[in-house]
Amino acid sequence: MSDAALDALFDAARAIRERAYAPYSRYKVGAAIRATDGRIFSGCNVENAAYPVGTCAEAAAIAAMIAAGANRIAVIAVIGSTDDVCTPCGGCRQRIREFAAPDALVAMADARCETRIVRTLDALLPLSFGPDHLPAPQDRGTPHG
Ligand code: THU
Repeated sequence: MSDAALDALFDAARAIRERAYAPYSRYKVGAAIRATDGRIFSGCNVENAAYPVGTCAEAAAIAAMIAAGANRIAVIAVIGSTDDVCTPCGGCRQRIREFAAPDALVAMADARCETRIVRTLDALLPLSFGPDHLPAPQDRGTPHG
């Protein structure tokens, strides 16, 4: 991915981060996906007074992608709101895995987008389990055989 394309993805993540609803953690996150069809989808974290019910920015961006009819992630950029680079939580790594190849890129940045880390999904979630590990639908009827 070119530097300009990566800049555009971080710009989208940074813009939607401002819409985050994070009154409990005060940690706003923005995520932006470049789908394999070239479109960009973004999302922010949305917390809840019942804390576990909150959703991550990556999950919101994935939902936007699916709702728009795309389903493959080429690159996902994530930006937090502290000086530390925001790295996706374990659950979101698995959520990304559902829609991304092992060589898809995960680009992560600190609040000011000064420090950036770019890794493959496989580096963040090695030996991952994904849809391709399941038997074909026609073979799912009989457990263990
Ligand atoms: N959060 C995200 O949205 N994405 C991440 O990659 C890390 C954490 C959110 C969840 C919660 O709303 C807040 O950041 C603090 O954990």
